[in-house]
Amino acid sequence: MINLLLINGPNLNLLGQREPSLYGVQTLETIETELYKKAEKAGIKLETFQSNSEGSLVDQIQKAIGEIDAIMINAGAYTHTSVALRDALLSSEIPYVELHLSNTFSRESFRHKSLLADRAVGVITGFGPMSYQLAFDGILSFLKHQDRK
Ligand code: DQA
Repeated sequence: MINLLLINGPNLNLLGQREPSLYGVQTLETIETELYKKAEKAGIKLETFQSNSEGSLVDQIQKAIGEIDAIMINAGAYTHTSVALRDALLSSEIPYVELHLSNTFSRESFRHKSLLADRAVGVITGFGPMSYQLAFDGILSFLKHQDRK
């Protein structure tokens, strides 16, 4: 069975009330529930984790080693700043997809840079809550086809 881990970083626990014009009105709980349904239908085991703390996110990535086949990560603001998260992801050697609700490239210039993107399988940005569904489809397709490359 394929095991997927969804990681959400800082302030994503406030989805639904946080800047809804940018991030929409769906809560993280709703987004995760939708994804659990999708995972169940596909016969995939899904785990989710959210933290506002960089160290806890690093710990979670380390825990995933040997347990998780791929990670979907919305690292929030840490995307643009965190060498520690980059190092954790690369050390884990777990394939990952970076995702964002908003289109980070249409926003402030400091959001145009990602410390995670160049080593990600792919990046999904700008589709609102649908970004999570697209990330799921993308990483699953990657896992299913990686042996055939
Ligand atoms: C975000 C984009 C980041 O720049 C921002 O810091 C977030 C959310 C997104 O999902 O659009 O917290 O990752």
